Amino acid sequence: MATERKAVFLFFGGTGDLAYRKLYPSLFNLYRKGNLRSHFAVIGTSRAKMDDDKFRAAIKKSLADSGNRTDSKEASDFVSHFYYQDHDVTDTAHYAVLKELMDKLDKKYKAEGHRIFYLSMAPQFFGTIAQDLKTQGLLSEGKDVFNRLVIEKPFGRDYDSAKLLNDALSKSFDEDQIFRIDHYLGKEMIQNIEALRFGNTLVESLWNNRYIDNIQVTLSEKLGVEERASYYDNSGALRDMVQNHIMQIVSLLAMEQPVAFTDTDIRAEKVKALRSLRVYNVADAATNFVRGQYGSINEQADYRHEDNVPHDSTTETFVAGKLLFDNYRWSGTPFYIRTGKMLADKFTRVDVVFKRPLVDIFAFPQSQNTPLAANVLTIFVEPHAGFSLQLNAKTNDTGFSTEPIKLDYLVDAQKSKDTPEPYERLLHDVLKGDGTNFSSWPEVSYAWKFVDQIRRVWDLQEPQFPNYTPHSMGPAAAEELIQRDHREWVYRLNN
Ligand code: BG6
Repeated sequence: MATERKAVFLFFGGTGDLAYRKLYPSLFNLYRKGNLRSHFAVIGTSRAKMDDDKFRAAIKKSLADSGNRTDSKEASDFVSHFYYQDHDVTDTAHYAVLKELMDKLDKKYKAEGHRIFYLSMAPQFFGTIAQDLKTQGLLSEGKDVFNRLVIEKPFGRDYDSAKLLNDALSKSFDEDQIFRIDHYLGKEMIQNIEALRFGNTLVESLWNNRYIDNIQVTLSEKLGVEERASYYDNSGALRDMVQNHIMQIVSLLAMEQPVAFTDTDIRAEKVKALRSLRVYNVADAATNFVRGQYGSINEQADYRHEDNVPHDSTTETFVAGKLLFDNYRWSGTPFYIRTGKMLADKFTRVDVVFKRPLVDIFAFPQSQNTPLAANVLTIFVEPHAGFSLQLNAKTNDTGFSTEPIKLDYLVDAQKSKDTPEPYERLLHDVLKGDGTNFSSWPEVSYAWKFVDQIRRVWDLQEPQFPNYTPHSMGPAAAEELIQRDHREWVYRLNN
C-alpha cells in the first residue's frame, strides 16, 4: 500500500518541455499509485499568460502524449489539482502573488505546510529565485513542515560558478533541503549497482584492484544535438555528460561499502571516492583525455553545420578518458569512460573486466587452445536492463579446449515496461525527503574540480575538428587511449 505524501508543488519553468514531457506524467504515475491522493496541489509558473483551464488542458495533453488515457475520472481529478500563475522571476514584488496562491492551496488541500519548489529553467535565475522564495515568505514555517528545493542541471559551468550558485542557494536552504537532479541516479540499473555490489559476496569480495583489471563506462548517444544546440554549444560533452552523469556512476562503482543504506552514509562514501580521484596535472590531462566532434556523412551535416552552431565551433561532442583513484582499493586499476553524440547506437553500459588467471594451464605448448578470455561483468543500463557475466568453459566436444560463455540476466519486457521512469522515482524521493539519488554539494564540487582541469588544458589548444564519422564509436584517439595500455573497449562496433 503506497504511503500518501502531502505537498504543494511550485514549478518554475512550469510550461517547459521537461515539465510536460517528464514531470507532470511522473506526478500522474505517483497519483495513480496512491503516493499522491487528495492532499496536494501543483502550481505551474512561467512568463506566459494562461488561465487554469488552459493549463489543465495542457497537462491532459502531456499525459496523453506520454501514453495515458485521459478520458477517465482519475485523469480529470488529477488535473483539477493544477493551477497556473504567470510570473516574472526577477520581479521580487510579484512573489507575493505566488505566496498567496500557495497559502490558499495549502489550506484548501490540507497539505500541512509541505512545499516543494522545482526549478526547471535557465540556471542564471536559480540564485535569485531561492533568495526571493525566502525573503518573500514562501517557505512555510513550523516544526513538522518541509520546504524542499529541486534544482535541474546544469549546476554551474565550472567549480567557481557552481560554488557561487551553491553559496546563493545556501542562504535560503540547508543542504538537506536541496535536491540536485541527476536523472541517471533515477535509472533502475544505476540504482542496481549498489544491490549488485553490496548484496553479493561473490561480487564485492572481488571488487578491487587485485581482481579487476579495468572498468569501462560508456554512455553512447545516436542522435546529434537536435534543437538544443544553443545550450549544448556552450557546454560540450565534458560538462553535459561527464561532470554529472559519468562522475556519479563512477563514484557508485568506486565507493566503499556505506555503514548503512541511508542517504547520509552513501553520500559520504561517494564523496570519499571522489576525493581520491586523481586530479591531473597538465601533461596527464592532455594524455588521459581525448575529445571529438562529429563530421558529416551522407545527409547528416557535421556538427558545425547543425542549426544554431557556429561554423567554427570547437565544442566537443565526444569525450573519452582514463580516471585513476589513488586509494588502496583501486590503485592501478583504471576506469575508462566515453560518451558522445551521433555515435553508433543509443545505450549505456558498464563493463567490469577482471584479470585473467595468473597461469593459463590450458595453454601447454602442443595445445591449439586460444588463451583464456578475461571474465567480464557487464551492467546493461539502457535500453535493455540486466547483467551479463562472461566466463570460460570447456567446449562441448571430445578434445579439451575452452571458450568464453555468458550467463545473462535480462529484465523481461513486461518488467521493463512497468519500471518507473527516473523522474517518477526522483519526485517520489523528494516527497519522502530521501537524498540518496541526488548529487550533494561536495560530490558536485569534487566532480567540477576534476573536470575543470581537463577543460583548462583543452582550452590551451585549438582542436583538430571534426575528427569522427557519425555512427562510429568516436575518434581514433579514443581507441589509442586504451590500446596504449594494452587493453581494448569491451563494446566495439560489430561485436
Ligand atoms: C542529459 C544531457 O543530461 O542527458 C543530454 O543534457 C543527453 O545531452 C541526456 O542527451 C541523455 O540522457 P538519457 O537518459 O537519454 O541517456
